[in-house]
Order: sequence, then structure tokens, then C-alpha cells
Amino acid sequence: MIRLGLEILGIDIGGSGIKGALVDIESGQLTSERFRLETPTGAYPKEVAGVVHAVTEHFSWKKKVGVTMPVRIRDGIARTAANIDQSWIGTNVEELFSSTLGSEVTVLNDADAAGYAEVHYGAAKGASGKTLVLTLGTGIGSSLFVGPVLVPNLELGHLRMAGTTAEALAANSIRKRDQLSWKKWAKRLQNYLTYVEFLFDPNLIILGGGVSRPKRTKHYFHLLKTTAQLLPAHFQNEAGIIGAACAAHTLTD
Ligand code: BGC
Repeated sequence: MIRLGLEILGIDIGGSGIKGALVDIESGQLTSERFRLETPTGAYPKEVAGVVHAVTEHFSWKKKVGVTMPVRIRDGIARTAANIDQSWIGTNVEELFSSTLGSEVTVLNDADAAGYAEVHYGAAKGASGKTLVLTLGTGIGSSLFVGPVLVPNLELGHLRMAGTTAEALAANSIRKRDQLSWKKWAKRLQNYLTYVEFLFDPNLIILGGGVSRPKRTKHYFHLLKTTAQLLPAHFQNEAGIIGAACAAHTLTD
């Protein structure tokens, strides 16, 4: 294959699968097929690093890699772990992956990665002011950008609401699990949006995850009211891969 421009391998570690693809940094487009392996049972650090290695080997990739996962990362170290083993907390994940892969690795939170994809190539491209990206999936992920600059690790899915957490009330997994009507779920989401608007007063809010596809947004977008502009995400499944590759470029060059 002839490769033009700068490519970075983006890898998205999720609860069930570890997916990777090559990303063209200019356009944010995938330049390879996606390759997916199962997340090993327990999702322990060493085993996950082994699978991440296998993904890089699939692409015969020895250069820079961007990795994203549902943890809060500061200075390369995982500070929280949601939906993966607690032994990640305190692990220097950048060191673990770099030494396993033998290459330079940038690691960031999955919602921060999704935000990178939207801000650099998607629905928030060129936006000024504050952009808040919320991913509605198993949990609720959040990322805040001031212009193109990320304010990392917000974890707004864990905000306390009605005696529990926002994601336990309004994540898409809860809508499905409790068979909530779109109207009922939208009401919960509305309360959450009002809360985060109060805290951050963003100019633009992007809603991501599977519910940001047009065939889903038609059920609930019209029920939501925000002072910020409200848009569905441009990327769904590939947001993590694209954002991880973009962050590996932006944060290290
Ligand atoms: C985690 C976040 C993650 C979000 C979406 C939350 O439970 O705490 O780190 O971004 O789920 O996966």
C-alpha cells in the first residue's frame, strides 16, 4: 500500500473489544480496515497490553500509537477505572504500553478521545469558545474543549444526581435496560444537560454514542432544550480510534 501524509495507529480499549485502525492525521479518515480483538476476561493491565500489542502487530506498526480507554489519565497514570479492573488505578499505562509495544504511546480517556475527533474533524470543527462533548453509552463520558484545547478528565458522568450518579440515570444503557420511553429518558437527559450547562456554560454541546445516529436523534433531540447549540456527534464507533490518533499527534508534536 502507498501511504501518503502522516498516519498514526489509534486503538480503542472498551469493555468487550479492543479495536485499532490507521488514521490519516490531516483528514481524520481511516486509511485501513478496523481490526478488533476481544478484551481479555477481567481486563487486567498486563493481559490488555498483550492484546494491544497484537493489534499493533496486525498492522506491523512500530511507530507512534494513540490509545484510549475509560479511565482518568494524568501524567500517564490511570487515576480511576470504570467498567475495567480496578488494578489499573495507579498503573503507569503509558509506560506499560510503551515498553510492551516498543514504541511511543499516548494514552487518554475515551470521552476525551471522542471529543478530539469531533473538535478536529467532526461536528465541532472550527468551533470557538467552549465545547462540551457527552458520550451516551454504557456510561456517560464527557470532555471539555476551549477552542481546540482539551481540559482533560472531567468525568461528568459521575456527577451526583437524584441520590445516584448521572450515568446511572441517563446513560443509554439505562434507557435500554429499564426500557424507558424516549420521552422519559429525554427528561432525565434534560435534567442532566441543565446541570452541566449551569456548571460550564458551554457554547456548543455535542451528544455522541450510538444514540447520536439520525435514526435515533429523531426520537429525542426535539425534546431537549439548551442555551448552548446542541448537535449530534459526527462520529460514533470510530470516534475513539480517530481521537486517540489525533491526540497522539497533537499532544506530542
Ligand atoms: C467512565 C469514563 C468514561 C465513560 C464512557 C465512565 O463510566 O468513568 O472514564 O469516559 O464511562 O466510557
